Amino acid sequence: MLTIALAKGRLAKYSIELFEKCSIDTSELREDTRKLVVYDKKNDTRFVLVKPSDVPVYVYRGVADIGIAGKDTLLEAGLPLYEMLDLGYAACKICVAGYENKGNGKITSNRLRVATKYPRVAKMHYDSKGEDIEIIKLNGSIELAPILDLSDVIVDIVESGNTIRENGLSILEDICTVSARLVVNQVSLKTKADAITPLIGRMKQALEEM
Ligand code: PRP
Repeated sequence: MLTIALAKGRLAKYSIELFEKCSIDTSELREDTRKLVVYDKKNDTRFVLVKPSDVPVYVYRGVADIGIAGKDTLLEAGLPLYEMLDLGYAACKICVAGYENKGNGKITSNRLRVATKYPRVAKMHYDSKGEDIEIIKLNGSIELAPILDLSDVIVDIVESGNTIRENGLSILEDICTVSARLVVNQVSLKTKADAITPLIGRMKQALEEM
């Protein structure tokens, strides 16, 4: 049995469409249900529906053989997984954002306060510039932090840019672009090659045709 970890939320719709194009039966996935494990029995495949940030953990631990996660989530997890395909969708970028008129996110006296869902990514970014920062880990509504002066800037994903704009903030720096990736457990790639290799081939082909 092949186990696929699927992120609930913004990645789910595209991932389901992609699997459908790969002749996977996604009918149970499309049902409006609270089930966390759904099956395509004909293809000996099951999907586990998890929080996006947990996809790398399930795949790394081998309880899922493959998974689809955003590159942002993978960078933040920093786990050794095989990243097999850039699926292209859910494309966005990780940025530093804040108030433009606040010295472009640069402060001279104290350490820059950075609010983020991505502390590892934020630290890597500022480490690469040799800047020591204070990280404030939040789990959502990150844009609130500079508004309430909880932080000087945020490090967050920007997709349409609406959240930044509608909250009066600006992009101060681009860190990297990210998109959905197919990741595979390092052991599963060998032990379940018969199932995984053809599936990756079908996914590649489906992406080319999309
Ligand atoms: C993400 C991110 C931004 C927003 C960016 O939040 O943290 O807030 O989306 O998208 P946009 O550029 O298209 O506006 P999400 O919607 O996942 O909700 P959250 O605040 O609960 O993390």
